[in-house]
Amino acid sequence: MMSTRIFALVLTGQIILSGLRVQAQALPQLGKNTIPEVIAAMTLEEKVNLVVGGGMYVPGMPMFGGPAEPSEAQKRVIGAAGTIVGIPRLGISSLVVCDGPAGIHAFNSGKSRVYYATAWPIGTMLASSWDTTLVKRVGETFGSEAKDYGIDILLAPGLNIHRNPLGGRNFEYYSEDPVVTGHIAAAMVSGIQKSGVGVSAKHFFANNQETNRNNVNTIASERAFREIYLKGWEIMVRESNPWTLMSSYNLVNGSYTAESFDLLNTILRKEWGYKGFVMTDWFGGRDAVGMMKAGNNLLMPGIPPQKQAILKAVKEGQLDEQVINQNVADILNIILLSPAFKGYPYTDNPDLKAHAQLSREAAVESMILLKNNNALPIKPGITLALIGNNGYDLIAGGTGSGDVNKMYTVSLSDGLFRAGFINLPEIQLAYTNYLESERAKRPKRSMIEELMSPPAPIEEYKLSSDLINRLAGTVEHAIISIGRNAGEGSDRKLEGNYYLTEYEKSMIKSVADAFHAKNKKVIVVLNIAGPIDVTQWRDQVDAILLAWQPGLEGGNAIADVISGKVNPSGKLATTFPASYTDDPTAKNFPGKEFKDRPVQGTFGQQAYESEVIYEEGVYVGYRYYTTFGVKPAYEFGYGLSYTGFTYSNLTLSSTTMKDKLTATVTVTNSGSTAGKEVVQLYLSAPTNKMDKPLVELKAFAKTKLLSQFQPMGLPGIQIKE
Ligand code: BGC
Repeated sequence: MMSTRIFALVLTGQIILSGLRVQAQALPQLGKNTIPEVIAAMTLEEKVNLVVGGGMYVPGMPMFGGPAEPSEAQKRVIGAAGTIVGIPRLGISSLVVCDGPAGIHAFNSGKSRVYYATAWPIGTMLASSWDTTLVKRVGETFGSEAKDYGIDILLAPGLNIHRNPLGGRNFEYYSEDPVVTGHIAAAMVSGIQKSGVGVSAKHFFANNQETNRNNVNTIASERAFREIYLKGWEIMVRESNPWTLMSSYNLVNGSYTAESFDLLNTILRKEWGYKGFVMTDWFGGRDAVGMMKAGNNLLMPGIPPQKQAILKAVKEGQLDEQVINQNVADILNIILLSPAFKGYPYTDNPDLKAHAQLSREAAVESMILLKNNNALPIKPGITLALIGNNGYDLIAGGTGSGDVNKMYTVSLSDGLFRAGFINLPEIQLAYTNYLESERAKRPKRSMIEELMSPPAPIEEYKLSSDLINRLAGTVEHAIISIGRNAGEGSDRKLEGNYYLTEYEKSMIKSVADAFHAKNKKVIVVLNIAGPIDVTQWRDQVDAILLAWQPGLEGGNAIADVISGKVNPSGKLATTFPASYTDDPTAKNFPGKEFKDRPVQGTFGQQAYESEVIYEEGVYVGYRYYTTFGVKPAYEFGYGLSYTGFTYSNLTLSSTTMKDKLTATVTVTNSGSTAGKEVVQLYLSAPTNKMDKPLVELKAFAKTKLLSQFQPMGLPGIQIKE
C-alpha cells in the first residue's frame, strides 16, 4: 500500500513538472502571438485585472483604490491619474495614463527632482485659432513631452459642447459648435498620436455641466444629441482614430453613458466604425458588470469591489466571459501601440524651452481682438499703467484635473516689461506687495479642494481716485486686466464671475473717465475661462483683447499682440451673449435636483438624483441667436484684426449639393498690416419639412500670413454632408 502511494505521488509530481515545462515553452506573448492566443492563455483573474485599472496611488487615501505601495508604473510617473496593469508573463506591459488636456497634470513630486510640464493655451483658446495645422503641431509637441516623461496615454482632449456660458469645464472644451469641436479635436488627436502617445478623448458625452455631474440625467431629443452633442465626436472619431475614449459621468435619457450599449456599441462602434477602447471617467458608472456588457472596456482608476463584482458575475453565469474577452482584446490592440510596449527609452528631459515657444505662438494665434477704437497696437517704449490684480497674477489655465504642473507663468506685467513697455514702479509695487501679503494670509488648500474648485479670487486692490488721476496725468495708456478662473467640480457663478464685481465696474469707469479726460486710451485684457458680461462696461473702454487663459507664456503672448508684433487673428468659437438670460439654456441650467431622491455620492457622500432638460433642442449658441434674431454682445466667428480683408471669386465645385461640395474663395489683405484671416462657410438648409437653424457652419480654413494687398486663394473648403 505504502509503496503504491509513494509511486503515485512521484508520478503526479512528474506530470506537474512536465506540464509546467510545456507551458513555459509555449506561453504566448503579446506582439508575437495573435491576440486570441494571448487571451486564451490568460486566467479569468488576469483578464479582470486588465479591465479594471490599477487604482490611484495616493498615500494615506485607500478610497482611491490604489495599492499600499506604488507599482512600477505608478512610480514611473508619480501623481499620474491611473495605470493599466500589465501581465509580464504574457508580455503585456503596464501603461500610464495622465491628464490632460492643457498640459501634463499632477507631476510635481516623486523621483529625485521636481518635474515640470508645458501649460498650453486652454482648449477654448486653441479653438479660437481656427487653425487645425497649429493645433496639430501643439498636439504633437504635447504628445512628445508626455512620451518623454514615460506616459502612454494622455487624458485629452476634452470635447464637450459649450452649452451654457457658465459650464465649469468649458475652458477644457473647444466650442459651442460641433464642426469646430470635431475638426479641432481631430487635429489635436492626430498630433498627439503622431508622437506615438495615445489619447483618451473625453467626456463621451453630453457632460455639459459640473453641477451634479455624477448623477445628472441629461434629457434631450435624439436630434439634438445627433446634430449637436454627438456630431463633434463623430467627426473626431472618423478623422483621427483616437486610441481611447472616456465615457462621461452623467446619464443620458436615463442610462449612464458608461453603461450604455447603444452609445458605446451601436453608435460608436457600429455606426462610426470605432476601433479603439473606452475607459470610464474616474470612479464613473455604478454597475461594473453593466459597464462590461456595454463595451466600456476599462474601469478607471479601478477599485477592488469592481473586480470582485465582475469575477462573481462570470463565475455565476451572469456575465459571459466572451464579453470580457472582447473588452480585453480591444485593450491589447492599443497596448501594442504604446511607448511602454515598444520599450521607449523615455528621457524625463523634454525640450521644455522649445515647447514654451510653441505655447506662446499658439496663444498669440488664438487671441481675439473684441474691440479696437484706434487704441491698439501700441508702440513699445511708452509708459503705461497696468491696473488690476490680474495684471500681476496671470491665470495660465483652469483648475482640477485640467491644471498643469507648469514651472512658471509669465505675468502680463513681466510680458509688457520684456516687450519694452514701462509700467510705473509705484503702481507695480503697490500691486505686487498687496498680492504677496494677501497670498500669505490664505490657508493651504487640501488636495481635494485643489481638485474640486478653483481658489476664490483675491479681492481687487483698491486704487484711490487720487492715484488714478495722477496716473492719467503721467502715463500714456491704461491697461486694465480682468481675470476669471474655473475648474472641475463646479460651474461658474453669475455674481462676481460672469458679471464683473461692483468694484471692477467702478474701477473701469473711474480709470476710463480719468484717462479720457486727458485724451488717453484705456485697453482691457480679459484673462478668462469662458464668456463674461461685457455689455455693462464695454462702451467705456477703447479696446478689449480676449486673451482667454493663454498658458505659461501668457504675459509674453499678450504683449506680442498689444505691441503689434503679431496681428491678432483669433475668432470666437463660443458666443458672448448680450445678457446671460438671452441664452436659451439659461432657464434650465444646471437643471433640477430632487431632494426627495437621495443617492450615494462617489465617495459615499450625500447626493441627489438630478436632471437637466435640453429644451432648446438644436438651438445652441449661434444656432439660436441667428435663428431667433437675438443679438449677442459678440457673435460666434467674430474677431477683429489690425488689418482688413476682402473676399472675391467665390466658386463652388457644383451648383447642386450632393455628398460633397468644394468652395474656393480668394482672400485679399486690404489693409496696411500683414495678417491672417479665418474663412467660415455657413449653409442655410431648406426648412420645408423640418425646422432648421438659420445658418450652420459647415467648414472653415485659416489663411497663411497675408501681406498687404497680396491676394491668396485658399485651397478650397470641402463640405461633406
Ligand atoms: C475627470 C477627468 C480626468 C480624471 C482623471 C476626473 O475627475 O473628470 O477629466 O481625466 O478625473 O484625473
